[in-house]
Amino acid sequence: MNVPLYEKIWMWAAGGMIVAFILMVFAGVAFSALEPPSHVETIDPAQVWTDARFANRGVTQSPTGATVIAVAMMFAFNPAEIHVPAGKPVTFRLTSADVTHGFQIVGTNANTMVIPGYISQFTTTFSTPGEYLIVCNEYCGLGHHQMYATLIVEEASS
Ligand code: CUA
Repeated sequence: MNVPLYEKIWMWAAGGMIVAFILMVFAGVAFSALEPPSHVETIDPAQVWTDARFANRGVTQSPTGATVIAVAMMFAFNPAEIHVPAGKPVTFRLTSADVTHGFQIVGTNANTMVIPGYISQFTTTFSTPGEYLIVCNEYCGLGHHQMYATLIVEEASS
C-alpha cells in the first residue's frame, strides 16, 4: 500500500499525541497532580440561612490566614464584598441557597462549583494585592450575568 509522506507524518503525529495524553493521565495520578475534593460535607439547602456554619457570613482573620464564609444565591453572593490578606492561605467555604452556581475569582486559580446541598471548600493564597472580580460561571437563571462579587486582597498588615 502506498501511503504518501505527509499522510505518514500526520499518522505518527496523531499516534504520538494519543500516547502523550495517556502518559499525562498516568503522570497526574502517579504524582498527585490532581486535587479532587478530599471530603464531602452536606447541608440542607433550605436551612442555609439558619445553619450555624453559615450564620456568620464574612471573613474571619487569624495570624495564619483567613476563612471566608459565603452563600451563593439567585443572583448574588453574600457577602458581596470580601476582604482577605495577601500572602496568607485563605480558606473559602461556600454553599448555595437555591440552584447550582459557580464561584470563580477572575485572574486567579480559584474556581469551584457551588452546589445546593453541599459545602464547597478550598484554600488558596493570593500573592498580589488588589481588587478581583468574582463571577458566577454556571448558568443559574435569568440574572446569571448579573451575579458577581468583589474580592479585595489587602497588603498584609504585619
Ligand atoms: Cu449564579 Cu450563574
